[in-house]
Amino acid sequence: MNVNIVGLSGSLRKNSYNLSTLRFIKENLPEGVNLDILDISLLPMFNEDLEKTNPKEVEMFKQKIKEADGIVIATPEYNYSIPPILKNALDWASRGEVKVLSGKPLAITSASPSLLGGVRVQSQLREICVSLDLRPLNKPEVFIMKAYEKFDDNGILIDDDTKNLILKLMHSLIDEIKK
Ligand code: FNR
Repeated sequence: MNVNIVGLSGSLRKNSYNLSTLRFIKENLPEGVNLDILDISLLPMFNEDLEKTNPKEVEMFKQKIKEADGIVIATPEYNYSIPPILKNALDWASRGEVKVLSGKPLAITSASPSLLGGVRVQSQLREICVSLDLRPLNKPEVFIMKAYEKFDDNGILIDDDTKNLILKLMHSLIDEIKK
């Protein structure tokens, strides 16, 4: 069985640790498993008036999520909370008659230069998952703290413990999808 996963980064920064996390995942998935990193910067800011016009970017985004077997979100924490770009994407995906997020297995990672590694954003994201009917994996928890020590200047993940933990999470996601 081929497995198709979509990835969402909560950061648009070129040298983002979180986008780098998704790139590491994409390059290290087992045979037959594909990660498509979606560009959520293309989505307009959510507005219920705009919703009535069915923006093309939103339709394409929702279609990709609908077709995916699972989702991985790699996000920073902004002021103890979820970056607006990520919340905007989740709000768009949550709308409409067809609930594209409903029941999808989800893996979450967060990376931060801080010592906490995004503990608070993950907590908030997991709360939102109830409304979205997403199925976040509880374990292993992946908090990439002191991210400047874990990635090199080119955004390559260089820390073996972090690599192993992320791959363990991805294997759990794939197992969940295959159940
Ligand atoms: C931050 N940062 C941050 N870090 C953290 O651990 N907790 C926080 O509450 C915040 N708050 C915050 C607010 C705003 C507006 C910004 C721009 C940044 C720091 C953040 O973790 C750091 O910039 C990361 O490098 C962002 O992730 P990417 O871009 O590397 O993926």
